[in-house]
Amino acid sequence: MGMSSSPLLRIWKALLLLQFVTGALGWGKEGHYAVCKIAEAYLNEDATAAVKELLPEYADGDLASLCSWADTMNFRYHWSSALHYVDTPDFFCNYDFARICTLGDCVKDRCVAGAIQNFTSQLSHYKEGSTDRRCKHSDNLTEALLFLSHFMGDIHQPLHVGFTSDEGGNTIDLRWFRHKSNLHHVWDREIILQALKDYYDKDVDLLQQAIEGNFTDGLWHDDLLSWRDCDDLLECPNKYAVESITIACKWGYKGVKEGQTLSDEYFESRMPIVMRRIAQGGVRLAMYLNALFADPDNEQAAAIFASPT
Ligand SMILES: *[C@@H]1O[C@H](CO)[C@@H](O)[C@H](O)[C@H]1NC(C)=O
Ligand SMILES: *[C@@H]1O[C@H](CO)[C@@H](O)[C@H](O)[C@H]1NC(C)=O
Ligand SMILES: *[C@@H]1O[C@H](CO)[C@@H](O)[C@H](O)[C@H]1NC(C)=O
Repeated sequence: MGMSSSPLLRIWKALLLLQFVTGALGWGKEGHYAVCKIAEAYLNEDATAAVKELLPEYADGDLASLCSWADTMNFRYHWSSALHYVDTPDFFCNYDFARICTLGDCVKDRCVAGAIQNFTSQLSHYKEGSTDRRCKHSDNLTEALLFLSHFMGDIHQPLHVGFTSDEGGNTIDLRWFRHKSNLHHVWDREIILQALKDYYDKDVDLLQQAIEGNFTDGLWHDDLLSWRDCDDLLECPNKYAVESITIACKWGYKGVKEGQTLSDEYFESRMPIVMRRIAQGGVRLAMYLNALFADPDNEQAAAIFASPT
């Protein structure tokens, strides 16, 4: 029995693996955290209770703490790794997602819009449950909640709805200020990290509060109603995907060439877009969870979008 690899080699491999795992993230963990934190603040009574019941004990009632859980599942659940994004044909900036991403189609054409539909429809059974809702259905509703919360973030990251040939900007290598990066990663994480550093003392909670401040009373206040406009929870993800590819074209890809250096100008002009997408993701996640979990007999709780408590 020879040792197939030295301990050092094994550590090295583990590190590589870790890098690969983190390289496949949607919004970086900061972006996902902010999306879930915003959503948590706007859950109605029933949704707050349901989320608390579904979360594993170690989450201590905090959905945001597990908002990146789905990124750690790509190896365990191979089927889930294709659910973080949807690729569009190159240069189709107004792609009709309703056509490729109906629930049925997405069984073969897996994508983020279909995943949101999938886990939304799983969670819609929650209300039918009785004493132990988790065991009533074969679907694991804890996992459905964590997947839905994560993918609602991903679908709002414009480069998760990017072109096929460059893998949503992943193959567009460039420099971000002084280090190597790629266009996808700039949108997942670099812009947020730079904003944290420049404006928020590296504190994600401060960032999330600033984002919230801009829709409760500020910049985006008048847009809030339109963000929440959704007649059919299963159809609306298609709309969010169209918004993303439109932004990806207009702000993500625009003027960017492989090998170039992106710095202040790109950062300052794109940061507001990123913040707005995080806000929309959070607001819409709250809307989904409120609609899914509210007891229709409880008028107060049925308000689709409860005010913050
Ligand atoms: C839906 O979720 C289940 C796990 O609950 C998974 O097996 C299936 O592949 C998912 N399908 C899509 C299209 O997301
Ligand atoms: C549901 O999923 C969670 C998270 O993966 C797991 O800890 C739990 O044991 C699962 N529950 C059931 C009933 O399988
Ligand atoms: C909030 O809005 C102000 C302008 O009113 C802007 O300067 C600031 O960057 C915004 N903050 C976030 C996090 O979006």
